Amino acid sequence: MAYVNDNYLKLKAGYLFPEIGRRVSAFASANPTAKVIRMGIGDVTEPLPGACIAAMHKAVDEMANRATFKGYGPEQGYDFLREAIAKNDYQAKGANVTADEIFVSDGSKCDCANVLDILGAKNVVAVTDPVYPVYVDTNVMAGHTGDADAKGEYKGLVYLRADAANGFVPKLPQDKVDVIYLCSPNNPTGATMTRDQLAMWVRYAQEQQALILFDAAYEAFITDPAVPHSIYEIPGAREVAIEFRSFSKTAGFTGTRCAFTVVPKDLMGKTESGETVDLYRLWNRRHTTKFNGVSYIIQRGAEAVYSAEGQTQVKALITHYLTNATLIRDALTKAGLKVFGGVNAPYAWVETPNKTPSWDFFDTLLNETHVVCTPGAGFGSAGEGYVRFSAFNSRANVDEAMQRVTAKL
Ligand code: MLT
Repeated sequence: MAYVNDNYLKLKAGYLFPEIGRRVSAFASANPTAKVIRMGIGDVTEPLPGACIAAMHKAVDEMANRATFKGYGPEQGYDFLREAIAKNDYQAKGANVTADEIFVSDGSKCDCANVLDILGAKNVVAVTDPVYPVYVDTNVMAGHTGDADAKGEYKGLVYLRADAANGFVPKLPQDKVDVIYLCSPNNPTGATMTRDQLAMWVRYAQEQQALILFDAAYEAFITDPAVPHSIYEIPGAREVAIEFRSFSKTAGFTGTRCAFTVVPKDLMGKTESGETVDLYRLWNRRHTTKFNGVSYIIQRGAEAVYSAEGQTQVKALITHYLTNATLIRDALTKAGLKVFGGVNAPYAWVETPNKTPSWDFFDTLLNETHVVCTPGAGFGSAGEGYVRFSAFNSRANVDEAMQRVTAKL
C-alpha cells in the first residue's frame, strides 16, 4: 500500500463550499419545489462580456486553420496577454510591473496554493482570521502546521484577528513572521485596506524580511480612489510581495478559467544555509514544469477585457454586482442587522441576530427562506457570529432573496 500524505488527515472538515453544497443538495432533494437562491459561494451569474465572446469565437476559428492553429503555448502565457496586463493593470496606474513578471494561470485559488511549492517548511506563516480557507488548508496539506485545536486553529500558524473593532484590517503581528497572506478587498469580510494600511504592511515586510502574498482577486470592485488596486502601488512592494489576480470575478471567468500571478524580479528568499535566491527563478521553474499554459482561446478572451469595448462591458458587470451589494446592505441594515463590507467589494459580512451560531443561522435561512449564505465559522473562529452574502447574482434573485430574508427577521 502506498503511504498517504498524513497532513491531509489534520484537515478539520470538508472544504467549506462543498459542505454548503452538500447541505443545499440535501435540502433541495427533500424539498423539490423550493426555489433556492444561492448567495453562498461567490460565483458569477452574468454572461461573459461580448468583447470576450467575440475574441474567443475568432480564436476558435484560428484553431480550425493550419496556418493559424496553435499547439502548446508559452507556459507563462502569450505575450499579447502579459503585455496587455502589464500596461493596463500596472503601468497605467503607476505600478512598475513588466510583462515578463506576469504568469498567466488557470486560477488564483490554484496559485495561492501552488506558491507553497517554492517556499520552505520552516516559515512562520500568518493569516488573518477570518480568512479565505484556501490559505490555511493548503498550508496544512503542505505540512506547515501542527494539528488543529478545539477552535479549529492550527498549531504553528499565526492568526491575526480582523473584527469590527479594527475595521476588519488586522494589526501587525507582535512577533516576526516570514509569510503573510493579505486579501484586499477582503474575502470574506469585504473590508479594504487603505494606501496607508497597506504601506504599513509593506514596511513591516521590509523590516522583517517577510514575504506578503497579496490576493487582489476582487480589485475590480474598488471604486474608492483611496484604496489601492495593487500592492505594487506602494513603494518598496516589489521587494516583498507576490500578487494574485484573476479574471474570474472581474470579467465573469469563473467557468472559463484565467488568472495571473505577479512575481517581481526583485523578490528574494533564502535557503536554509542562508544563501539568497530569487523567487522569480523558482516560480518560473515550477510553472514551466507543472503547467502547460491556459488555452489560447481563453487568453484571447482575457485580452479582450482590455479593449475599449471590453472595458465598458466589464465596468457594467462590476456595477451590476456592486448595486446588488448595495441592495443587500440596505435591506439587511434596514431589517436591523449589522452589515459590514459590500462597498468596494462583492461580499457583505453580516452579524447574525443575537449572536446565533453561523451554521445555525445558515440552516435557518435555508430551511425557512430557501436562501443560501456562507456561515462565517467556515472562515475561521473569528468568523463565528457572522454570515457572508455574495452579491454575485441576478437582480431578480437579490430582490427576492432580500424580501424573503427580511420578512423572516
Ligand atoms: C468564495 O465564494 O469565497 C469564492 O468563490 C471562492 C473562490 O473564488 O475560490
